[in-house]
This record gives sequence, structure tokens and C-alpha cells, in this order.
Amino acid sequence: MIIVLIGYMGSGKSSIGRKLSKKLRCNLIDLDDYIVEKEKASVKEIFQSKGEIYFRKKEEEYLKELLLLQGDTILSLGGGTPCFGDNMKFILESENTQSIYLKSSVKTLTDKLFLKKSKRPLIANIETKEALAEFIGKHLFERSPYYQKAAHQVVTDNKTKKEVVLEILRLL
Ligand code: S3P
Repeated sequence: MIIVLIGYMGSGKSSIGRKLSKKLRCNLIDLDDYIVEKEKASVKEIFQSKGEIYFRKKEEEYLKELLLLQGDTILSLGGGTPCFGDNMKFILESENTQSIYLKSSVKTLTDKLFLKKSKRPLIANIETKEALAEFIGKHLFERSPYYQKAAHQVVTDNKTKKEVVLEILRLL
């Protein structure tokens, strides 16, 4: 089975994915890391040198390639992956695939992302916490309809990673 972790930047897809893969003793693939490896450039560099449209094309191509994998795998996506092209439809229609939306509030995301925005080209230049909260509020509102299509949702606010992992395990 492939377990696809979906959610906004900073919702914990990568760290929860790591814990979950240890618990289930299965393979873990982070789509951003996969793109970086294949393209031999960081996400920031790809956005800067080739632009977001190129990044989205590659993101779609590699997502579709990875969804064909056999064997148990945790696949953590980028925050934008489900919101472009037919990616979400493809995820939902893929055989033997479960999707989980890690749902976090604007406050949780702002607190976390304010400290870790430099590697994320979409928010790297937002200077104040207030401006970041406003951006995330609007962006999350636009993206939520895609995230909400996931088969399951787990709210992450005020929970430890361990608690989130246990909730996911109960859903599977
Ligand atoms: C993006 C999220 C990032 C990365 C890229 C674009 C987005 O992944 O794919 O910077 O559009 O939300 P994370 O969600 O892992 O930060």
C-alpha cells in the first residue's frame, strides 16, 4: 500500500512520514527530496533558475511515477502537489493508495513556518509574522478544497508527532 501524506507547508508531512515509516517498517519517499535528487538542484534553485511552472511539471511527472511503485511506501508530498493539474484526482484513483490530510491551523503553520521559511520559495520573502499569517490564511483557503478530498484527515494542532502517528495508525 502507498500512504500519501498531504498538507500545507509546515504541517509535518516529512517528519510524520519519517516516524510512520519507522513504525510500519516501510519505505519512505519525500517527493521534494526525490525532485531534488532527480533534478540535481534544490527546490529554491529550481524555482529561481527554471521557474515555478517547470517545478510543477516535474512534481506531477515524479508523483505519477512514484504512485506506480509496488510495495509498502509512505509518500510525503509538497504542500502544493495536490493543488496542481490532475494530481489529486490521480492520487484518489490510484490503486492501493490511501491519502491522509494533515490539517493544521493558520496559527500552528505560521508559528512553525516563520522560523523555517528561507528554503521555501513561496514564503521566503515575507518579512513579518503578521504578513505571513495573512498569506497563509488566504493560500490555505484556496488550497483546502484539494486537501479536503483526501480519504482521511488528522488535525495536528497541539498534538505531538507521536500522537499524530498513532491517530494515523488507527485510521489505516
Ligand atoms: C510548496 C511546498 C514545498 C515545496 C515547494 C512548493 C507549496 O514543500 O514543494 O516549495 O507549493 O506549498 P513542503 O510542503 O514540504 O514545504
